[in-house]
Amino acid sequence: MLRRLYHDQPASFAFTPENRAWAEGQMTKYPEGRQASAIIPLLWRAQEQEGWLTRPAIEHVADMLGLAYMRALEVASFYFMFQLQPVGSLAHFQICGTTTCMICGAEDLVAVCRAKIADKPHMLSADGKFSWEEVECLGSCANAPMAQIGKDYYEDLTAARLAEIIDEIAAGQVPVPGPQNGRYACEPLSGLTSLKEMDSGKTQYNASVQLAVDIGDTLKRIDGTEVPLTTPWVGKPDGPHGETPKKKSPSPDEEEYIGRPQVKPAATPTPVSGQGEKPEVMSAPRESGADDLKLIRGVGPKLEAMLNGMGFYHFDQIAAWSAAEVAWVDENLEGFKGRVSRDDWVSQAALLAEGGETAFSNRAKKGEV
Ligand code: FES
Repeated sequence: MLRRLYHDQPASFAFTPENRAWAEGQMTKYPEGRQASAIIPLLWRAQEQEGWLTRPAIEHVADMLGLAYMRALEVASFYFMFQLQPVGSLAHFQICGTTTCMICGAEDLVAVCRAKIADKPHMLSADGKFSWEEVECLGSCANAPMAQIGKDYYEDLTAARLAEIIDEIAAGQVPVPGPQNGRYACEPLSGLTSLKEMDSGKTQYNASVQLAVDIGDTLKRIDGTEVPLTTPWVGKPDGPHGETPKKKSPSPDEEEYIGRPQVKPAATPTPVSGQGEKPEVMSAPRESGADDLKLIRGVGPKLEAMLNGMGFYHFDQIAAWSAAEVAWVDENLEGFKGRVSRDDWVSQAALLAEGGETAFSNRAKKGEV
């Protein structure tokens, strides 16, 4: 199936403040220069916020991670968990159509979706509340046929039960996920034949369903307010385990990958509030020509042109910015406010001005970003 960007895209995307804080926290989980590793959680949170993954959202995440847009699009279009077109406002149904489910009645489930939601997959229902698609095996074959609705699995389905589920969701309810034929999990329908002692002391539902019921987010989109931030070290001098993280010396392989002389990074100025102070600017680059500012992670062609237009052409200019000057530039990057401190341009520029490399600049020179 071709996975392409939807023809009708919104003009822009921005994370809500809660989601932005969450996303920035996720980025701190990875070593400097490896922030691109956070792409899947960030794309997922963007999708949770909007319901589907828009082009501006993909580009926004790419900008946050200092990635070429194409790299982020490759990830978004590869994984089927990312919806590249609008989905129902209440629920999106993913019907498993692989062998086991197919033999056990998946085609009947698809027929229900066609009749009650929309004739074709990835189309919205007339009221915009539902959408559906057929997916490959979801790993619940012992409870075939099944469907994923929102975040949870509904198993041992029949056409009649699926039709009821659609009606229940339309009426504002969240049907209990899990087996829909009375089974606890995937034991024989006639009851346990072995390990019978395990039958006592169990919760009302099997562990997955119990958790789904307890959390209650089967259909609800997470928005950054209900999930505790799992990066408690953000803003603290201590590392994730209550101790200052020790810098691991790179292995020979990593050294080759990073390929940089070990230059001590300059201390990043602490951002100051207010408008700050305008740094000294140049009317033109030096005779040797402007530096390639795109070697700084977070600076793309647009930002480079903006910086040049403001009178900044060289790494040493940026490396020399004081905290007040960082604040001024941060404030005056129209559409990119806060990028200097967010991506720590000053430390990166200091390395590059001394002839060193960052992991990002090394990859950029190889055309890998
Ligand atoms: S075949 Fe449907 S879950 Fe595996």
